[in-house]
Amino acid sequence: MKRATLFLTLVLVFSLFAFGGIIDTIKARGYLVMGTNATFPPFEFVDAKNEVVGFDIELARAVAKKLGVTLRVIDFAFDGLIPALQADKFDIIFAGMTITEKRKEVVLFSDPYFDAGQVIVVRKGYKHFDDVDELTNEKVAVQTGTTGDLMATEVPGIILTRFPHFTEALMELSLRRVNAVVIDSSTGEAYIKFNPNLEVGSPILSAESYGAAIKKGNEELLNFVNQVLKELKTSPYDALLDAWF
Ligand code: ARG
Repeated sequence: MKRATLFLTLVLVFSLFAFGGIIDTIKARGYLVMGTNATFPPFEFVDAKNEVVGFDIELARAVAKKLGVTLRVIDFAFDGLIPALQADKFDIIFAGMTITEKRKEVVLFSDPYFDAGQVIVVRKGYKHFDDVDELTNEKVAVQTGTTGDLMATEVPGIILTRFPHFTEALMELSLRRVNAVVIDSSTGEAYIKFNPNLEVGSPILSAESYGAAIKKGNEELLNFVNQVLKELKTSPYDALLDAWF
């Protein structure tokens, strides 16, 4: 009996080493794989040197650094990100992804790291919209699978075109093929900076928070990411207070 217990304990301890958790897997591999869709400035976009940069990349880099590994970024279709995460193509999604109840059914979300909401971007002087419902009979572009897409899809009589990239949706707007784009507030503002012919034509229409998405079962990585986010959010002063009191 005693022997059996010892044996079982050994097997258990051994298997813990042999099949370490997700963190061990990442450390052994030497890099963290992040999935994103890089048409979402300032969170992720392709710069002049053809590199994917942005706020989300820096967050993922902080996680990778704390793990002692490098970061690999995979630029993917936004609506394919969650299925690809499930299929282990990445360890984590940082994509300005809104934490929603529906998505929570299939992935884990980190603590929120940014607050945003949808706005309607138009060509300068086109129209002002007080509510998303006023998009009835308007030609509107969105990025496929985004919360902006979901919001616009609900509007009766809207003439909606979905694009895999936000860059394309905004191009259609500039080219007058559509009259509005439903997009996250900070990203809308970022695009307008580069396109002086466009403006925000609505108030912020929703309250959303972004989180990093992680595959269900990888709670270990989730806790690690939350810890890193917490450390990033804490000011040096708060850290001093924590250390001394
Ligand atoms: N926040 C919106 C959503 O979660 C849009 C995110 C789009 N992100 C991107 N990287 N293209 O649906």
